[in-house]
Amino acid sequence: MEKPIILVTGGTGYIGSHTVVELQQSGFETVIVDNLSNSTLDVVDGITRITHTKPHFEQIDCLDGQGLSDVFKKYQNIKAVIHFAASKAVGESVHKPLLYYRNNLLSLLNLIETMMAHHAPHLVFSSSCTVYGQPDVLPVTEDAPVKPATSPYGNTKQIGEEIIGDAIHSGAPLQSILLRYFNPIGAHPSAEIGELPNGVPQNLVPFITQTAIGKRAQLSVFGNDYPTPDGSCIRDYINVVDLAKAHVVAIKRLLAGETGLVETFNIGTGRGLSVLELVNLFQQVTGVALPYRIVARRAGDIAQVWADPTKANTILGWKAETGIDDTLRSAWKWEQKQVIKKLRD
Ligand code: NAD
Ligand code: WQD
Repeated sequence: MEKPIILVTGGTGYIGSHTVVELQQSGFETVIVDNLSNSTLDVVDGITRITHTKPHFEQIDCLDGQGLSDVFKKYQNIKAVIHFAASKAVGESVHKPLLYYRNNLLSLLNLIETMMAHHAPHLVFSSSCTVYGQPDVLPVTEDAPVKPATSPYGNTKQIGEEIIGDAIHSGAPLQSILLRYFNPIGAHPSAEIGELPNGVPQNLVPFITQTAIGKRAQLSVFGNDYPTPDGSCIRDYINVVDLAKAHVVAIKRLLAGETGLVETFNIGTGRGLSVLELVNLFQQVTGVALPYRIVARRAGDIAQVWADPTKANTILGWKAETGIDDTLRSAWKWEQKQVIKKLRD
């Protein structure tokens, strides 16, 4: 029998590339569709070095419906899609809301329509814990209310979930698993692929590693006056390879027909860590001193959120496995490799 092909939009991006590796290592053939707006073609080589199999790659914008349709015609055996392609910078989305609504929502609409036209009914969608805002009860379960979004980016995730749900409830031939990621961090242990932030990193771990390597003078810790034990914000940091593996089980579940029409899962560790705890752990694990100072709170940050991953643990049979020490080591190894690469180029 022919291998089922999985289409991965945004597959040269941070989470997409790690997922393509895990899919290939689980025996799936993959086609990446990416417009390279926030990634480079080198990533395909990194994936190939890890898996010894080159994924198919198509440089196509998901806003191009005809281009997407051509991909389905070219690869006849596409059985399921994982949709990562999106713009993801929360701050930028406040300044460029229309760009975010256009890119994130029109891409999704094009994709769903193309999938239906080509009888590929299975969709895994990248959602985010941002849909919960500041939850009233912690750890947060999938039943917690979706709070009004605090950024256009967050709103695109909420509307994206609604678009999929509405299409399915209208009787569209579509089945979907919505994965709400908590805070993905780290890199592949091989350091062949990892996170490549554009410009000054907005996220904590890339800022930590760039500070540790000397690219940034100092880390700013945004606030130590939150109602948390040490006053800094708490998040659920999930290893990116563990996160990637959740997509593989979601795809297998969809292909096996085990799922209801639309299911939602939290993908996190179930453990909250504060910014200061993470900074201290990074220093312990790497032995590198990290210059930091406490500054004012960052607008829009919530005090604390961490997942209750029980539903994913029991129904998907997925569990975060990698310890935070190894995850931080992987992020550090990746950062060091970028410096060596730059010197070589
Ligand atoms: P990323 O920017 O590294 O990857 C996204 C990829 O999509 C990039 O390679 C980019 O070039 C591509 N892309 C963007 N718009 C496209 C378009 N119109 N057509 C084709 N390709 C396009 O981001 P990531 O961190 O890997 O995030 C992947 C998904 O997970 C996104 O949907 C994001 O919103 C979601 N998510 C990310 C996080 C996080 O903290 N990284 C957390 C929760 C959810
Ligand atoms: C983590 C903690 C900061 C940088 C974002 C999106 C969310 C999701 C994941 C996509 C916070 C603190 C950070 C720094 C700091 N993405 N921090 N100094 O804000 O939890 O979530 O990424 O869906 O939607 O909002 O992640 O890594 O930016 O911040 O003190 O230089 O680190 O205040 O408490 P966040 P983050």
